[in-house]
Amino acid sequence: MSKAPVRVAVTGAAGQIGYSLLFRIASGEMLGKDQPVILQLLDLPQAQKAVKGVMMELEDCAFPLLAGMVATDDPNVAFKDADYCLLVGARPRGPGMERADLLTANGAIFTVQGKAIAENANENVKVLVVGNPCNTNAYIAGAAARKVGRTNPNNYHGMLRLDHNRALSQLAAKTDRPVSSLKKMVVWGNHSPTMYADYRFCTSNGDSVKALVNDHAWNNDVFLPTVGKRGAAIIDARGLSSAASAANAAIDHMHDWALGSDDWVTMGVPSDGSYGIPAGVVFGFPCECKNGDFKIIQGLEIDEYSREKINKTLGELEDERAAVADMLK
Ligand code: NAD
Ligand code: LMR
Repeated sequence: MSKAPVRVAVTGAAGQIGYSLLFRIASGEMLGKDQPVILQLLDLPQAQKAVKGVMMELEDCAFPLLAGMVATDDPNVAFKDADYCLLVGARPRGPGMERADLLTANGAIFTVQGKAIAENANENVKVLVVGNPCNTNAYIAGAAARKVGRTNPNNYHGMLRLDHNRALSQLAAKTDRPVSSLKKMVVWGNHSPTMYADYRFCTSNGDSVKALVNDHAWNNDVFLPTVGKRGAAIIDARGLSSAASAANAAIDHMHDWALGSDDWVTMGVPSDGSYGIPAGVVFGFPCECKNGDFKIIQGLEIDEYSREKINKTLGELEDERAAVADMLK
């Protein structure tokens, strides 16, 4: 018997990430090739015509799993009974900006949307914030939702999967091993240049990647800056921020959360105090996903170098949290 459709809300549906994301959700790449979906598309009033155009193209793909579509500029409509929400709609940064520069411009969006999700969505809704600065926006949405109750505050995530995937590709090139052989990658912290991409636990076909690389200077001076500043390098090269790779990472995050992962995956999740990260801070942690749920991997050793990196990215997130405190009153 075929499954009942699930409702997937996507904000910023007329934007560049939306244009890569929606077709892959509708084709079953996110939730499985047997899972029908209803797309609930939110964008600003002035973008509604463009959203209609995207919907026309979705129709023209004749996706067997696409069971319905709604376009709206009203968050209460977009999030109604939603099982999954992908919060992409926000301003991207341009050349010379850091993601934190978007804090006030974009933060306000997430108080409204967090509340609307908590009031309207399925109680078990899974929320992924892509719009930058995504950790703090997820924190804002989660805090707004917490005031309403109903939904699970641990289910408001920020997207660090793009950083995780970028780190895997850099390591595959350095070690001359296929990406598919690499397991147990971790990216700690904020989706910003302070993130700490940590391959100390990473293996390739059972071999230690740290031993294969065996080059601390490369780690410190090449790998970390390359992964941390990859978003800016893409903006410099394309004149626009990453879109297809961002959509791909969003698909990966939701896919693994919903259907399970056979490896560690990096997710920006509200801290439960693990590794000394204060509760509630949305932080990149190594996670395992099973039965539609996620769990932070416990017990990893944090050496002095790693603790310093983790403290730096945490400090930045705490500053961002302080900067938005007024929005959450
Ligand atoms: P874009 O400008 O192409 O599209 C953004 C869309 O959001 C537009 O259609 C706009 O009308 C819409 N929008 C703006 N405010 C909205 C609101 N309040 N409600 C609903 N829709 C709204 O931008 P993009 O390239 O698609 O990027 C979107 C966001 O994703 C940016 O903040 C960007 O920085 C971020 N991003 C994050 C990652 C990540 O790894 N976390 C990666 C890439 C991009
Ligand atoms: C990225 O990492 O590519 C995105 O967060 C976009 C940006 O502003 O860097």
